[in-house]
Amino acid sequence: MLNIALVGFMGTGKSSVGRLAAEQLRFAFIDTDELIENEVGHSIPEIFAQLGEPAFRKYERDVVNALSTRRDTVIATGGGLVADPANLASLKEHALVVCLWASPETIWERVRAQSHRPLLQTADPQAKIRELLAQRAPAYRQADVLIDTGLRSTKEAAQKVLHQFHLARNEG
Ligand code: S3P
Repeated sequence: MLNIALVGFMGTGKSSVGRLAAEQLRFAFIDTDELIENEVGHSIPEIFAQLGEPAFRKYERDVVNALSTRRDTVIATGGGLVADPANLASLKEHALVVCLWASPETIWERVRAQSHRPLLQTADPQAKIRELLAQRAPAYRQADVLIDTGLRSTKEAAQKVLHQFHLARNEG
């Protein structure tokens, strides 16, 4: 178990929890959205608008394949990345896959003031959250560990992630 991969819906805290967990483990931290933005030279909204979602998903697959050589890294993934079972299977080969979970209501509270998520730029973003969450729940449930971040602070969630990682590595 060389790495930690955080999966889960938008707004469940993957990046903030991941950064903190990485800091505490003295691991590197990477975010698949950031890797894609750096690689393509455009923001996620620009990629969706100019190249379309299928092109973005292709970049996600490429990034996941490139991650297989990582060591000592906490990887935060985009919310739709593990909807592709091949991506999840690939992450599981080298990482403890931890899904951060939250209710649609909590997710909405966290994302409503933000505008960088193209999938939520619709007339009824709350309905979109419920729809996508229902669609993806079976994929998220395939993670090795599920952590509800609804009532937990970033720090508490990061502690849980570390605890599960140490258990998985028999260091608990
Ligand atoms: C997406 C989630 C986003 C980003 C893109 C698509 C999704 O990442 O990858 O906007 O399909 O749920 P976050 O989960 O970090 O917001």
